[in-house]
Amino acid sequence: MSTHIGAEHGQIASHVLMPGDPLRARWIAETFLEDPQQYNDVRGMLGYTGTYKGVRISAQGSGMGQPSMAIYAQELFEQYDVQTIIRVGTCGGVSDAVKVRDVVLGVAASTDSAMNRSRFGNVTFAPAADFDLLRIAADVAEERTMPLAAGGLFSSDQFYNPDREIVPNLARYGILGVEMEAAALYTLGAQFGRRALSICTVSDHLLTGEETSALERQESFSDMMELALETIVR
Ligand code: HPA
Repeated sequence: MSTHIGAEHGQIASHVLMPGDPLRARWIAETFLEDPQQYNDVRGMLGYTGTYKGVRISAQGSGMGQPSMAIYAQELFEQYDVQTIIRVGTCGGVSDAVKVRDVVLGVAASTDSAMNRSRFGNVTFAPAADFDLLRIAADVAEERTMPLAAGGLFSSDQFYNPDREIVPNLARYGILGVEMEAAALYTLGAQFGRRALSICTVSDHLLTGEETSALERQESFSDMMELALETIVR
């Protein structure tokens, strides 16, 4: 086992879906995977492996925020030889190019986090999605005529006290949604030379104040899950 994941080598699939909420990992496993087996409950950060259309896939909670995502993504890449991580989460809309329930493919992730300063000093690294994975996801979404937008994410360290004044500027520079994990995932994907992508449904909108109901969130999450699963098996 690794420090935070209680799985033997081989118990985790090469392709991993990562929701922030560990109970979402259980829901993904029970709803979409055949013969799901739980491999982790350390700190309640549930992880499961099963198959989808014959392909082994794991669902692993990441927790909230970049430090938590970074712990799990690093252990998955480094200790379990994971090749693909797709984050499946929610984001707050910051641009009028998206509305609630839309699915956003995160092309790149800007951040207010200082995490990468210790890696790059004065250089501001630009964490970006894996292009092949992004292209496959865009193709799958187009075939399914899903309402989809591709653009920048803003991975904020703050949920409750974001600097609202920067929102119009973020939108002007092509950022579609604010969330809390993508920049760390993309940085680790780059470090380990593995495939990483963040897909988010817009759960609320910072410009319009619109929010989704629990039922709408569940439905749009299901659509996003099918997109993520089909992207992996393609
Ligand atoms: N901020 C950060 N993360 C989020 C938000 C938000 O407004 N909405 C959904 N995830």
